[in-house]
Amino acid sequence: MPVEYHPAPPPPGPRAGGLPHHAGLELDAIVALAADLELPNFARTVDALLGGSANFAVDREAATALLQLDPLADVRARAQRGFTRRVVRHALARGIDQFLDLGCGIPSVHSVHDVVLGRDPAARVAYVDLDPVVVAHARDLVADRPTVRVSWGDLRAPGCVAAAVGDHLDLSRPVALVIGGALQFVHDDLAAVLAGWRELLAPGSVLAATHGSTVSRDIAPTLDALYVRGLAGLSLRSPEQVREAFAVIAPAVDVVDWPSAGAGGRDTTGVLGVVGTID
Ligand SMILES: C[S@@+](CC[C@H](N)C(=O)[O-])C[C@H]1O[C@@H](n2cnc3c(N)ncnc32)[C@H](O)[C@@H]1O
Repeated sequence: MPVEYHPAPPPPGPRAGGLPHHAGLELDAIVALAADLELPNFARTVDALLGGSANFAVDREAATALLQLDPLADVRARAQRGFTRRVVRHALARGIDQFLDLGCGIPSVHSVHDVVLGRDPAARVAYVDLDPVVVAHARDLVADRPTVRVSWGDLRAPGCVAAAVGDHLDLSRPVALVIGGALQFVHDDLAAVLAGWRELLAPGSVLAATHGSTVSRDIAPTLDALYVRGLAGLSLRSPEQVREAFAVIAPAVDVVDWPSAGAGGRDTTGVLGVVGTID
């Protein structure tokens, strides 16, 4: 099946230094990668779980296989995005008009920019992801949204990401930063990564993150095989390890239980979430 992609071109004007808009990845190469439909892509598989349209047969097959391994995979994916949307509404209510979504995945369903622009059309959203396939899809999806920017970047390098988004967001002012569903693919010291972001944000900012439930070591290799593209394998952390890392921000709760017990309207998912404010 031929697929055409029309990613938005890099925006005009000078950059704030650091990574260029597409971080050295030629747009054509990104498009070629995105159009390679031989292998499932993890973000597209999540999109399939969420009922989005940015996925292909190979991703839907992976979603079916994933559901056989983890029958709650779709529930967790929805719960995670529901949490992010509640965090975004919380930040909007605090007067925040800048949003940074790290490890954004494909923003086709229940996306941050839908919530933000529905409430404040002038607010700015910066999406960042390490997977060039995600970047290509996301740019395509928001091509007609001048207040939404998509950058390639690695959330483990706060300074580089800050430089990449620095001409879109004013990081000397409060920002709502969300890291949803990406940290279980980060093998580094989570507390250190989160502390790096905490130090970079202006007072009044909101910092939120989630971390998937512990996956059994038996099925981890199978999941890794399914997550073939865009990720470097799962980092298996116990809930206690996640709680300890998240403590640099605030006490962690199940994502359905923020801001109050049962706020997500579902039974517990095992996905932990944390929301804090920078003093
Ligand atoms: C499960 S998806 C989550 C998507 C979305 N945030 C959500 O809540 O549904 C995880 C995303 O994190 C991205 N990711 C993984 N490691 C990353 C890193 N070090 N820096 C930036 N993005 C990363 C992946 O490419 C993938 O798109």
